Amino acid sequence: MDPHRENGQSDGPNPKKQKPSPPPPITDDEILAEFSHHDPSVARINNGSFGSCPSSVLSAQSDLQLRFLRQPDHFYFNSLQPSLLRSRSLIRRLVNADDVSEISLVDNATTAAAIVLQQIQWAFAENTFSKGDAVVMLHYAYGAVKKSIHAYVARAGGHVIEVPLPFPVHSEEQIVAEFRKALDLGAAGGRKVRLAVIDHITSMPSVVIPVKELTKICREKGVDQVFVDAAHAIGNVDVDVRDIGADFYTSNLHKWFFCPPSVAFLYSRKSPASSGLHHPVVSHEYGNGLAVESGWIGTRDYSAQMVVPAVLDFVARFEGGIEGIRTRNHEKVVEMGKMLAEAWGTCLGSPPEMCCSMVMVGLPGCLAIENEGDATKLRTHLRDEFKVEVPIYYNSLRTGCCGEERNGSSLVTSYARISHQVYNVENDYCRLRDAINKLVKSGFNCGMLSSA
Ligand SMILES: Cc1ncc(COP(=O)(O)O)c(C=O)c1O
Repeated sequence: MDPHRENGQSDGPNPKKQKPSPPPPITDDEILAEFSHHDPSVARINNGSFGSCPSSVLSAQSDLQLRFLRQPDHFYFNSLQPSLLRSRSLIRRLVNADDVSEISLVDNATTAAAIVLQQIQWAFAENTFSKGDAVVMLHYAYGAVKKSIHAYVARAGGHVIEVPLPFPVHSEEQIVAEFRKALDLGAAGGRKVRLAVIDHITSMPSVVIPVKELTKICREKGVDQVFVDAAHAIGNVDVDVRDIGADFYTSNLHKWFFCPPSVAFLYSRKSPASSGLHHPVVSHEYGNGLAVESGWIGTRDYSAQMVVPAVLDFVARFEGGIEGIRTRNHEKVVEMGKMLAEAWGTCLGSPPEMCCSMVMVGLPGCLAIENEGDATKLRTHLRDEFKVEVPIYYNSLRTGCCGEERNGSSLVTSYARISHQVYNVENDYCRLRDAINKLVKSGFNCGMLSSA
């Protein structure tokens, strides 16, 4: 019998299969529920530091952890590697890498930096590089990565060139010019530059760096390897590793991509350099390529690396997916940054096109933030007294020559780094505005805070 006929009657030609209509976009209440584990009393405008993870992804993670505990052998022999491969494949597609073997999953950007720098150290130890060969990094490189460069490179006999960058910054050209100058200085001193470490988005102050352009300059000037520290990038700016053209590129997935702590990817372009990379924790897979080595570095919890499919399900609930999320975050954080700058009589630290989902906003000079200690004390004060979580940047390199660095009669010495993620609401930023205004009105300055 024809399965399309009922009671011997034809129901006509088979109707074309209708594409299921997409589910309605996530509502504000559903977003609230996804982040209901956040402390509701805190205005949390610092997604940049530690990221955030929605409860649907946490629940997928907890399910994986239980599956491991229920039957570890089955999990280890049948589930773990296919699941890690699936996460790597999804990341490969997202960042436009050629091949999944170019994508490794590691704990965090700090680990990725250690992997890249370790092979530089070996090159010095094995005399492939000569003492005095150089590594270039930005002045605004992340503190832990700077220390790593010193630990792995300077100790091995390498020379470190630091590229000074202006802040506030007005254009990409300023950054490009300083970068060229630093490479030329290295060449004039007869140094071979073995590695450039370039941030995609600097942390403090937060600025989007023209990383493709800087990589191109490295190629022109004969720099051996380029490593992009893009800890903040995925979910925050467009990432196309092929287009950027660096040898190595890392981004955390737990900052702006909703993974739980902690997981990052490290892209290593297929090249002789990439075959020299090894995970710093050596285990059974040593010598089988970084991606495979990183998939087993001993017994531990791999669940954060396995939830990438659940993250993609989460972001698919937003209009435009991850691109839609980052576009709206960018627009909103710029709007909020301008609102704060206007309320305080200050300026943004960079033009909006050099911002991502984070913006630097000048703080009133009368707060008298005179050093990094003051910045930390003010941050703590905002947390303790106002329940506002926001990092404060003290600008030690300020030139003092730009009119916009002034706020009334005093110099703007510091900036608040505000973030916007899907869970933020306008009131979070109003609370920061009002807290600073209250301090200013009361005649407060940082000298009044004890250094406890
Ligand atoms: C530019 C940059 N690099 C590296 C890191 C280190 O990231 P993680 O602590 O996740 O290793 C950070 C963290 O904020 C960062 O901003």
